[in-house]
Amino acid sequence: MSTANPAHRAAASPQAPAPYPILELIKLHKRFGDHVVLEAVDLRIEPGELVCVIGPSGSGKSTMLRLCNQLERACGGQVIFDGQDLTSPLVSIDRVRRQIGMVFQQFNLYPHLRALGNVSLALKRVARLPRREAQAIALDALARVGMREHANAWPSTLSGGQQQRVAIARAIAMSPKIVLFDEPTSALDPTLVGSVLAVMRRLREEGMTMLVVTHEMQFARAVADRVVFMADGKVIEQGPPEQLFTTPRDPRTAAFIKGESN
Ligand SMILES: Nc1ncnc2c1ncn2[C@@H]1O[C@H](COP(=O)(O)OP(=O)(O)O)[C@@H](O)[C@H]1O
Ligand SMILES: [Mg+2]
Repeated sequence: MSTANPAHRAAASPQAPAPYPILELIKLHKRFGDHVVLEAVDLRIEPGELVCVIGPSGSGKSTMLRLCNQLERACGGQVIFDGQDLTSPLVSIDRVRRQIGMVFQQFNLYPHLRALGNVSLALKRVARLPRREAQAIALDALARVGMREHANAWPSTLSGGQQQRVAIARAIAMSPKIVLFDEPTSALDPTLVGSVLAVMRRLREEGMTMLVVTHEMQFARAVADRVVFMADGKVIEQGPPEQLFTTPRDPRTAAFIKGESN
């Protein structure tokens, strides 16, 4: 890792078209025992895209995200990240995981570390940056999520929305090529959801590539470049938000959207 934060360079310069998608899932299969959870899932995420995944509970959304950084192993198919097939045994998965940020429903902050410590930990331990440099990058990441003033706060003193913004700072501090979000606002008090979505919207404007599993239909509709509807372990359909929300092709998509908007 260089001294400057590459995320900033990427944000400052216009996004050059990449020759291949950042992330591509090809005919991905996953089962737990006899239970088929993902069936022939194909998905491409282009650089700078914000893709929202929606679908009923149990449709395989979290499993798909966990396969993207190989927290789960596929039973078949490929996960191509930045041109590398992560299902190959030759890939150094620890190195790859540094380039894939992950934000969970339960923020998973370390309670014994302040906000700054949570964000700088991987920069020190994993990226092996000197303390000062790690702290400078971490403060910068906290500023990007509007949490610079809370750098010295303990997680327990922060609201859920603030904790989730610290978790997002932790994910982006490592300058990942993509950030995966698994229902980042589902555990939040409704009044706090907006602040987290605003941060995600800003990241998208900075050019961050994001794959977001969410129940926030309005966010998906307003901010996503593309929306993917999953059910029963399959991608049922995907498209630009306006098309998917107003003229879904599949009756399952229509039924889901109707149910969520009630
Ligand atoms: N580690 C696991 N072992 C067994 N079954 C699992 C495991 N993880 C998920 N599942 C099952 O896989 C299905 C899809 O789960 P999940 O990916 O969490 O769906 P979603 O995120 O869309 O709600 C569910 O039926 C769930 O019970
Ligand atoms: Mg889930």
